[in-house]
Amino acid sequence: MGWFKKSLLFLGGGVLAAYSYDNILGDGISNRMIRSLSTLLLISIDYKLNFDQNHDVARLHERNAERLYNLVIGNKGMYIKLGQMIAIQGFMFPTQYQEKFKLMFDQAPEESWATCDSTLRKELGDNYREEIFSSIEEKPIASASIAQVHRGVLKSNGQKVAVKIQKTTVSKQVDADLFTYRAAMKIYQWVFGMPLATVATYVSNKTREELDFVHELSNAQKISNLVESDPEFKGKVYIPRYYPEISTGKVLIGEWIDGDTIGEYMKLKDKGYNIKTLMDSIIRVYSRQVFSWGVVHCDLHPGNLIVRMVPDGNGKTHQQLVILDHGLYEIFSDKFKKEYSEFWKYTMEKDLKKVKEVMKSWGINADDLMMSAAGMGDPNSEQFKKRMKEIHDMSYYDRQVILKQQMKKFLENSDLFPMCLAFVMRSMRIVQGLNRNFGSPCNRIGILVAEANRTVQLYAYTPPTDLHDYVQIFQRNLTYYAMQIFTFLTFEFNRILKFVNNEVLHSRTNKVKDLEEMYEDNLVEAGESMGFEKVPSTDEILTVE
Ligand SMILES: Nc1ncnc2c1ncn2[C@@H]1O[C@H](COP(=O)(O)OP(=O)(O)O)[C@@H](O)[C@H]1O
Ligand SMILES: *[C@@H]1O[C@H](CO)[C@@H](O)[C@H](O)[C@H]1NC(C)=O
Ligand SMILES: *[C@@H]1O[C@H](CO)[C@@H](O)[C@H](O)[C@H]1NC(C)=O
Ligand SMILES: *[C@@H]1O[C@H](CO)[C@@H](O)[C@H](O)[C@H]1NC(C)=O
Repeated sequence: MGWFKKSLLFLGGGVLAAYSYDNILGDGISNRMIRSLSTLLLISIDYKLNFDQNHDVARLHERNAERLYNLVIGNKGMYIKLGQMIAIQGFMFPTQYQEKFKLMFDQAPEESWATCDSTLRKELGDNYREEIFSSIEEKPIASASIAQVHRGVLKSNGQKVAVKIQKTTVSKQVDADLFTYRAAMKIYQWVFGMPLATVATYVSNKTREELDFVHELSNAQKISNLVESDPEFKGKVYIPRYYPEISTGKVLIGEWIDGDTIGEYMKLKDKGYNIKTLMDSIIRVYSRQVFSWGVVHCDLHPGNLIVRMVPDGNGKTHQQLVILDHGLYEIFSDKFKKEYSEFWKYTMEKDLKKVKEVMKSWGINADDLMMSAAGMGDPNSEQFKKRMKEIHDMSYYDRQVILKQQMKKFLENSDLFPMCLAFVMRSMRIVQGLNRNFGSPCNRIGILVAEANRTVQLYAYTPPTDLHDYVQIFQRNLTYYAMQIFTFLTFEFNRILKFVNNEVLHSRTNKVKDLEEMYEDNLVEAGESMGFEKVPSTDEILTVE
């Protein structure tokens, strides 16, 4: 079937769907939907006609980024959340889209108290104010894309609480908006030939989960139990208590935490906090989540991390990390946990054969060039350097075509691809960004690998029986320690160099880069070698709420 017929059929289907939605939900949703689908159709036709050597491809991206952006801004609600996702996973999109969608982050308006009040009545009963609270503030403390948070005091025990209220515009339009989002990604898949539809379904499922606060409450209880029963974290890391009896799918009530958000970074030092201990707690608890528990907070933004001093029972106080917002989690299967741990361990041991095996089981076909790009081969090899030069010398259009081919080749079997990787990779970069903004006080990679190694051992351990086994274990031990020593040395060496250069020599011009800054540069270069124009910096990732 020709693309034009396909498009017409698609639009027809969309309009039909819009009308059926309208019957169920009302509120002029079909107008929104028709507007969205026709804009999306316009964009796809523009691409089908004009994406070739003879047209200005940069201009093409620019005008369609503009169209998509105006659509998102015009429709608000859920679109804002999804627009932010485009900005975060931006490296998949051309720069023109990334630039435009960066503007997305200040676009979530507060809802009035009257609206919040009516949500609370519906969810908690008409007399909620007298029955549940002795007071509740009408002005929100914080407002993000899907919810806003008000401060209150409980009648039953006088405890200060945070009341998270879902925005009505978001709840009303979620079905229609997610439908449109999936449609948009299908169009994109069809226009560019990239396997995006499955990813879109997954993101859409996750977003719906995030909107169900019952789900958030259950994540919070899971992680709270894990933290409390682990002697390494008990007391040092804390998850606020929630109140299931007075929480619903749209209202979540939890203990209020007084403290300092870690977004203040270096200022925390002046307030008397130990920054290295703080960052160490974040990385350790995150590593344990990923490699041991398989219960992973995927939204560790500075706003969701609070540090405070708590009494330790002996008349003294100690520093504690508090983790908020448990809406977006990944729960790993044992199989994935093992594979992901192996992936990390073998990557650090530079055992490329094993790394490729793991990737193969994820439907990823990585050739040597790509391994170099990911920092696992030799970035100084002639082949890789040649490749980088080729990419730099290409025309804009050719680079885009290469990217498309690479993506197709890369994900040769998208059915096998573990979708959770997308969110976990993003959360890895968030943690990397935090460490960097604190001046890299911790050996992040060292901590992560030690934890990954623990899990691999757990699954792999069989007691040695003969000399051959002992020799093998000994060799493995040796590689492991060599690797640990190596990351430790790189880390310490970098710190000493930095200290001497910045503090002793007071060199301003020749600033020595942090380890995290170097990792960041490598990542950007790796992205370029694959044809991506611009990998978003950790700073950009961190500004997303
Ligand atoms: N229990 C709490 N104690 C103190 N502040 C809180 C609490 N819960 C939320 N907040 C504040 O509200 C902001 C948004 O809350 P969050 O649960 O992250 O909502 P969202 O999912 O909409 O981002 C947080 O960044 C934090 O500043
Ligand atoms: C999304 O959710 C639906 C319904 O719960 C499920 O059938 C489907 O497999 C999910 N898809 C993905 C990609 O997660
Ligand atoms: C790491 O792996 C080695 C074997 O490869 C093992 O002997 C060692 O105990 C492990 N270390 C940790 C900290 O689990
Ligand atoms: C390997 O390391 C572990 C712990 O780190 C140790 O118990 C074991 O004896 C070591 N094995 C050999 C053969 O050296």
